[in-house]
Amino acid sequence: MDGLGVRALDTGDNAPVTEPDAQPPEFDLKLAEVAAWVGTGPDGIGQGPPDPSDEAALEIEGDDPAKALRQTLGMFATGVTVITTKVGDQVHGMTANAFMSVSLEPPLVLISVDRRTKMCSLLYEGQRFGVSVLAAGQRDLSDQFAGRPGDGRDEPSFEIVHETPVVAGSAAQFVSKVAKSYWGGDHSLFLGRVEDACYEGNAQPLLFHGGQYGGLASGAELT
Ligand SMILES: Cc1cc2nc3c(=O)[nH]c(=O)nc-3n(C[C@H](O)[C@H](O)[C@H](O)COP(=O)(O)O)c2cc1C
Repeated sequence: MDGLGVRALDTGDNAPVTEPDAQPPEFDLKLAEVAAWVGTGPDGIGQGPPDPSDEAALEIEGDDPAKALRQTLGMFATGVTVITTKVGDQVHGMTANAFMSVSLEPPLVLISVDRRTKMCSLLYEGQRFGVSVLAAGQRDLSDQFAGRPGDGRDEPSFEIVHETPVVAGSAAQFVSKVAKSYWGGDHSLFLGRVEDACYEGNAQPLLFHGGQYGGLASGAELT
């Protein structure tokens, strides 16, 4: 982690106690099964869906409600991260913008992972994952980790922190351990307890808005 401002966070006695017997069966995956990705993903991790009788129909304009909802959600500008994890010698990374801070004390973050992804099959309670906040110049890496053909300019390179890969050169890096996961419809939500965090103070972030990459306008004044 040379050149980065390291802010190691408390990982001491306050770590949440996990009840081995209380975890859902999806967390019982053996490592060998986890590494052998077969393309279906765990069938809904964590707590189940709410009572269907509570479900109200989505009101949204447009012929294709799913597309309209995606476009509407896309108006929320975000940064771009790469979620990483390691199982045995296997390193896997996935681009994600569904990342949020949850709590400072204890230090918690949340990611939302599509259940059809390989990443979802690799995460379970107790597993560590990295979150690398991409810098403005790492757009190609974002495409590569999203399964899109990047321009091939950048070969991903990783640093290992707490036995967990994080993307070298990123604007900020977190290493977390999955404390809980929750049903999130076609996604699973993973709450991670942060064990290590650092950032590069001069980095400019890569942004995502309306399905397009962007960056901070230089000289733009924040009001
Ligand atoms: C900017 C951007 C943001 C994304 N955010 C997410 C996300 O938050 N959660 C998710 O599950 N997929 C997200 N994706 C899609 C995944 O990166 C993509 O499905 C990836 O190929 C999954 O990889 P895997 O199946 O190899 O794990 C995003 C893609 C892009 C380009």
